[in-house]
Amino acid sequence: MAKKPIQIAEPKGKLGVLIPGMGAVATTFIAGVEAIRRQLARPIGSLTQMGTIRLGKRPEKRAPAIKDFVPLAGLDDLVFAGWDLFKDNCYEAATKAGVLDRTLLDQVKDFLSGIRPMPAVFQQKFVKKLHGENVKKGKTKMDLAEQVQDDIRQFQKSSGASRLIMIWCGSTEIFLKPSAVHQSLAAFEKGLRTNSPEIAPSMIYAYSALKLGVPFANGAPNLTADIPAMLELSLKNHAPVCGKDYKTGQTLLKTIIAPGLKARMIGLKGWFSTNILGNRDGEVLEDPGSFRTKEESKLSVLEYILQPELYPELYKGFCHKVKINYYPPRGDNKEGWDNLDIFGWLGYPMQIKIDFLAAPLVLDLVLFLDLAQRCPEMARKGIQEWLSFYFKSPMCAPHLYPEHDLFIQLMKLKNTLRHLRGEELITHLGLEYYD
Ligand SMILES: NC(=O)c1ccc[n+]([C@@H]2O[C@H](COP(=O)([O-])OP(=O)(O)OC[C@H]3O[C@@H](n4cnc5c(N)ncnc54)[C@H](O)[C@@H]3O)[C@@H](O)[C@H]2O)c1
Repeated sequence: MAKKPIQIAEPKGKLGVLIPGMGAVATTFIAGVEAIRRQLARPIGSLTQMGTIRLGKRPEKRAPAIKDFVPLAGLDDLVFAGWDLFKDNCYEAATKAGVLDRTLLDQVKDFLSGIRPMPAVFQQKFVKKLHGENVKKGKTKMDLAEQVQDDIRQFQKSSGASRLIMIWCGSTEIFLKPSAVHQSLAAFEKGLRTNSPEIAPSMIYAYSALKLGVPFANGAPNLTADIPAMLELSLKNHAPVCGKDYKTGQTLLKTIIAPGLKARMIGLKGWFSTNILGNRDGEVLEDPGSFRTKEESKLSVLEYILQPELYPELYKGFCHKVKINYYPPRGDNKEGWDNLDIFGWLGYPMQIKIDFLAAPLVLDLVLFLDLAQRCPEMARKGIQEWLSFYFKSPMCAPHLYPEHDLFIQLMKLKNTLRHLRGEELITHLGLEYYD
């Protein structure tokens, strides 16, 4: 039965989007939003802008647009700021990234040129391939966190934003395992004051956001907010968190195809994935430390989806390889190739080949995280598992395993929206139609 809708504040005023790392992803997002606002392009690939949600029984034919069903911020209300270790404004950075074509970029040049990155919190140890020129100085990591918090307050004041969210679009940092300094907020804050080497720059941004009650999303596979200290801060300040590592390309397809194979009990012998990319992300990932972080994130999905422990005959010991090749001539026109060796009826072998490019999602994350911060029931939960749909390594409560199957993730997302609006959850049982 439908219940009472859950309290969600209206999205009044501007929503400030704070972005550490203003490279290809960030500038493609910002340029895209502006191009859509000026009606130069359409928000293809965005669930919040193009998706609908079925409500009630099928014969009722109720399927409003998601953006009419839940109160989301409008694109006209978004304002942007960010940090980078390169001084390029967003127009220059977008031009260098080479994702969008010049004709489109030139039509939004006035807007993009006005967004200049603030000096970054950066330590080369964590991203070996980059050398910073626009970098903050501070005696301790706590001083740096305070400077980031000042930047945030300053931006809120100058932009007049009524709400903020932060989304990490920075490079992939080296692989880190949670250690003692990450285990509680007190230990973490002590570590900030004593310059603990285990505290990465991305953690300083996440800490600063959550400390001010600003929701944080992590688009890269870095450990960042996936530590008890950050979860404690998120719960304490009712600041939603989600991550990590955008699910845009190869892994998106993996989580579409693997559930299909499993649904029809088709076996898997091996899945070989390779990528070529020639942008800065590719250069950063050439460093084995950064690659390891990415590899862990890309490798985990198949084991969870295929459940070899339940289906040993079909999936035990399948071979899964992921390669990322930095190949400069390719620029940002990255490409992922997959070869799947599968087996069907009587064990007969078959193959599938895939060639795919990335899809967008920063906009949806920004709008949904903002929705979560306006809804006290969601905000006080900390981790927003319903946003798993967007991530390669979705954050979830410590006692759970993550849900990777894209279709379960979509059902979870839409059922969360139905729950928020007091609508009946959809189970697809449908026996009542035959009574
Ligand atoms: N493109 C995709 O589809 C995709 C998918 C999943 C994850 N990601 C991740 O998103 C991130 C961004 O990707 P991209 O293609 O935009 O890379 P990019 O190299 O173009 O941009 C990253 C930017 O972050 C900046 N940076 C690094 N450390 C920083 C710090 N401490 N503070 C501020 N800025 C910092 C770099 O200078 C660079 O400009 C990467 O970690 C990438 O792995 C991208």
